[in-house]
Amino acid sequence: MEIITAGSAGFCFGVKRAVDTVYELSSQDKKIYTYGPIIHNETVIKDLEKRGVGIINSPEELYELDPNDTVIVIRSHGVSENIYNSIAEAGFEIVDTTCPFVKRIHDAVSEASNNGEEILILGSSDHPEVQGIMGWCHGPVQVIEDASDSHDYKPLTNKPIRLVSQTTFNNKKFEDIVEILKLNKYNVNVMNTICNATLQRQNEAEELASKADIMIVIGDRHSSNTRKLYEICAAKCPETHFIETLDDLNLEVPKSVRLVGITAGASTPQNLIEEVQKEWKN
Ligand code: F3S
Repeated sequence: MEIITAGSAGFCFGVKRAVDTVYELSSQDKKIYTYGPIIHNETVIKDLEKRGVGIINSPEELYELDPNDTVIVIRSHGVSENIYNSIAEAGFEIVDTTCPFVKRIHDAVSEASNNGEEILILGSSDHPEVQGIMGWCHGPVQVIEDASDSHDYKPLTNKPIRLVSQTTFNNKKFEDIVEILKLNKYNVNVMNTICNATLQRQNEAEELASKADIMIVIGDRHSSNTRKLYEICAAKCPETHFIETLDDLNLEVPKSVRLVGITAGASTPQNLIEEVQKEWKN
């Protein structure tokens, strides 16, 4: 039996940068808080907690902290303009690890909406990245999650529409939705803002899943990019399994299995991927 792990499995550049920054800061004398969990991974969060790194989830919680000795870290998903300003105006030092690919979307929607364009975001409306992007729009904005929503979509104005997507959106869905909007003859300026790391991860996962007998997707259930990866793999390989930890791994494998594929979401630590590989090899 052969085991192949996708080269792009695990931390992407933006998540690695954010997590490394928090670890570096945790050795300083100041108190460190992240705005929202820095990563969708319980093991990393617990380890950071042991190092004294706290989490806040709303601007109201800033009142309980002392701006003179506290650093607030903004995670790779980014935050809305209002939240950013609340933290800065309260006098806290900000370490902004918003991924540059996300920042690029903030700048684009901010500029487009200042120029009178209406914004359309493809993504999950309750995802922090999408909420952050919405918070940089200075005019009408809507979110659609999938192709079925796009059939019902109606612009709010008769202005041009600037379309962007969550960085981890499924590329195939993106193309389907753009096609539907074009068929409806909407005046859409399309910006495919799915990041390269996501595209590469999705393409590799799809390719591996189409030849694997069993596909393992490792990641946190709250991680939206891991769930999308699971969807992509399951469409190609019926024996796709989503696991969060080693305990979820069922190693009773039929003899006929020749190839096991492994991939992992952007917030899955390398050591967990290696543990899973080791289990299969043993
Ligand atoms: Fe950035 Fe893409 Fe990762 S947007 S945080 S490199 S998934």
